[in-house]
Order: sequence, then C-alpha cells, then structure tokens
Amino acid sequence: MGVRSCPSLPGPSKDLTDRYFLPYLLPNDETENDRLDVLHEMCLQVLHRKLYLGPIKSPQRVINLATGTGIWAIDFSDKHPQAEVIGCDLSLIQPTLVPPNVNFLVDDIESEWTYERDTFDFIHARFLAVSIRDFSKLIKQCYLFVKPGGWVEFQDWDGHPVSEDGSLNGTALQRYYDEVFDAFETAGCEVRPGIKLEEWFRGAGFVNIHVENFLVSYGVWPKNKHLKKVGAWCQSQAEANGYEGFALAALTRYRNWTRKEVMLLASVARADGRRHDIHSLFNL
Ligand SMILES: C[S@@+](CC[C@H](N)C(=O)[O-])C[C@H]1O[C@@H](n2cnc3c(N)ncnc32)[C@H](O)[C@@H]1O
Repeated sequence: MGVRSCPSLPGPSKDLTDRYFLPYLLPNDETENDRLDVLHEMCLQVLHRKLYLGPIKSPQRVINLATGTGIWAIDFSDKHPQAEVIGCDLSLIQPTLVPPNVNFLVDDIESEWTYERDTFDFIHARFLAVSIRDFSKLIKQCYLFVKPGGWVEFQDWDGHPVSEDGSLNGTALQRYYDEVFDAFETAGCEVRPGIKLEEWFRGAGFVNIHVENFLVSYGVWPKNKHLKKVGAWCQSQAEANGYEGFALAALTRYRNWTRKEVMLLASVARADGRRHDIHSLFNL
C-alpha cells in the first residue's frame, strides 16, 4: 500500500496505520470492484442519473470519502473540470487513467484528518454502511473541514430490507440479512446509517439539512417501470459478489460460522432474492 499525496493539498491522516487492527470486512478484489461499479449504476438509476443532490454551484475543492473504485469521483471530475477532486480510500484500487483534476490517495477517514480546516466546498460520501464504526465522529470531522457555506452529502442505506406486504417475513433472505448484520454489529460496524444521518448532521452543528428518502426495490417484481429497473440493478449488485463475499468475514470471524454454513445460507438467500413473490425493498 502506498500513499500518493495530492499536489496542492496537505497529505492524508497521520495515524493511518494506528487502526489496522480494525479490519474492513468486505472483500477487496476484482469481483467486489465490479460490484461497486454496478452499485454506482444502481445509484444513478435511483437518483435519475444525478451524481449528487446538493445545490452546489462551482466547487473548487471536493473530496469523495471512501471512494472505492473511484467511479463517482471520476464522473464528478469530468462534469466539473474546474474542481480539484480527491478520492480517498483505505485501498488504492482506482484506475490510473483518470481526468487530470482527480487524485486518489490512501487514507483512513476514521482517523484524525490533517487537511487544513475549511478546505472543501463539497464533501461527498456514499455506501459506507458496514464500513464505518463511528459515523458521528466522521460527520463532525466533515463539519470542521468543509468551508462555511459548503455542502456535505452522505448517501446511505438502512441495511435491513423490508417488505410492505410482509412477504419477506420468515424467508431465508431476511435471515441472511439478520445474521450478517448481527455479526457486523458485533464487529462494531454501523449497519443502518441511512436512518441516523439527520441526527448525526444536526449533532455536528450543520444547518440547512435536507433528507431525501428513496425506495430501492430488490429484484424485478415491481410493476412500476422505474422500480423494476432499480430492482434489477440492486439484485445484480448483490449477486455480483455472490452473497458469500458480503457475509464470509463477518460470520466466520464474529459468529464462528464455518465457510460451508455461510455458503449454504448465501445460496438459499440468493434463491429467495430471485423469487417474484418476495417483495423486498431497501430504504436509501
Ligand atoms: C461499499 S464500498 C463503497 C465505495 C464507494 N463509496 C462507492 O459508493 O462506490 C466501501 C469503501 O469504503 C472503504 N473504506 C472502509 N473503511 C474505510 C476507512 N476507514 N477509510 C477510508 N476508506 C474506507 C473501503 O475500502 C471501500 O472501498
């Protein structure tokens, strides 16, 4: 792992190595990278192809926290050539052929930030459920490092799916999410950030807070054309890492499951996910 610092901004957090005993529990391989790119497309479908919802005008300095494959940061820098965009992540998996105004660096966003205060016009973070232990602290750091008048936007799930007609109740799909998120919670990871963001933003001192809720269907069961499309993308991101990828580390390390037990639950959950009579939805 190497640190590539950004030319005109101070470097990443100084205590990058201090928290390595707290692992990231999702995979970090080609299959997962593909899943993240599918997830990006799902999000664009949900938001009617908007990259963000904040009323930002002409941002100069932008940071995308825990950027993953960097796909959001690359799209954003293409659309805002005047902006200097940073994408940071624990892992330097981003492509090298990127627009000239985006830089990727390795950083642990849960450590103390060493940027200058009031640096960013826009701070963006997406899909950090199960990744971050202390969202409240992270959002307080955002408050310190966004410029007065700047915007901070988080887009995240309530990890647990629901069904309006009760069709999810008692299914293997529901059991899968209950078991896996239980294990993530034991590991200290936040699994339902979406529903708590407003409280954390308020607690950090932000004003002019806007909350938007989106329903993300899972699978192609909806009659509504838009939700059907969203559901297809959602299912394909879940299947992209075969359910096992998401569950394996959490259940084997924090619930003492065997690999075989995880594989079995993953396979029955995946089968339920394909059923048209189970009407699951996520809240984003
Ligand atoms: C589910 S992915 C989301 C990626 C990206 N935000 C997106 O929307 O496509 C979570 C990402 O968070 C990164 N991550 C997890 N903990 C982190 C931390 N403490 N600091 C920086 N990145 C972190 C992981 O390496 C992974 O790339």
